[in-house]
Amino acid sequence: MKKILVTRKLLKECEEKASKVFDANLNSNDELYSQLKLIELSQGHDAVLTSLTDKMDEATINKLPDSVKVISNFAVGFGNIDLEAAKKREIIVTNTPDVLTDATAEIGILLILGACRRASEGIKSAKESNWKWSADYLIGKQLTGSRLGILGMGRIGQKIAIIAKALGMIIHYHNRSKLSEEKEQGAIYHDSLKSLFSVSDVLSICCPATKETVNLINKETLEYFPTGAVITNVARGDIVDDEALIDALNRRKIYAAGLDVYKGEPNLNPGYQKIKSTFILPHLGSATKHTRTAMANLAIDNIDEFFKTGNCINKVN
Ligand code: DGY
Repeated sequence: MKKILVTRKLLKECEEKASKVFDANLNSNDELYSQLKLIELSQGHDAVLTSLTDKMDEATINKLPDSVKVISNFAVGFGNIDLEAAKKREIIVTNTPDVLTDATAEIGILLILGACRRASEGIKSAKESNWKWSADYLIGKQLTGSRLGILGMGRIGQKIAIIAKALGMIIHYHNRSKLSEEKEQGAIYHDSLKSLFSVSDVLSICCPATKETVNLINKETLEYFPTGAVITNVARGDIVDDEALIDALNRRKIYAAGLDVYKGEPNLNPGYQKIKSTFILPHLGSATKHTRTAMANLAIDNIDEFFKTGNCINKVN
């Protein structure tokens, strides 16, 4: 039986499955392993089932024992793993696409609604019972008729587009390549960031975090947006230059931000907490029982598939 190290606690039924399929070394206390501890614990294991909280950088990967053949990430994003370093060591890296598309798109829509309709301020006032209705009280931005720019039209971007369209938004997008008409469903393609941002009343960031997308939202690109635009991010914090966005929010160039992901999670830039209009969530993208179960099961299956066939459909390196 192959031996796997599971770095974070999984839902009960998924841990049961992991222990049925493998000799699984589970983390029942859900301790956040340091890189050193992860390296130590992985000795003698054939695979490591990581989560987005594990920083699998080059130094860590280089110190993994030769026995480790698979890093199976319990996430669709794999910005926490140095793919090249893994490849050099002939370790395959896998992710969990598809199964979390719906849940993450739901949070993407919540961010758009929350930021546009001033939900943070509304919740605070309602909880404190210190509000008085008036015709201009907490007036927000209406989604119907607004232009939604989607940065990264993969599965999650496409699902957000479908829901946002049903809410009456006009969909624009930028992607590495133009989608087929069937996948576009009437969305308007832009071949540059500048072109997309200049028509985005609201932006939904849905692209993966890669070397190319780090700080794509920065001092310069924020100026491409119409004044009063709303920026939302359901992808990864690394895509946003926080200081630049916080400055644009303070200057009212940007009306509001809806964020689920942050650089250096869980320690988000305190500037976001000081701004009343920010609608911020603690990385809830895939957080439903259905989805987290499907993700963990897929992460387990990915390892199993590799050891049975020598390959894996969800290999990303
Ligand atoms: C992912 O899988 O990348 C999500 O962000 C997890 O919530």
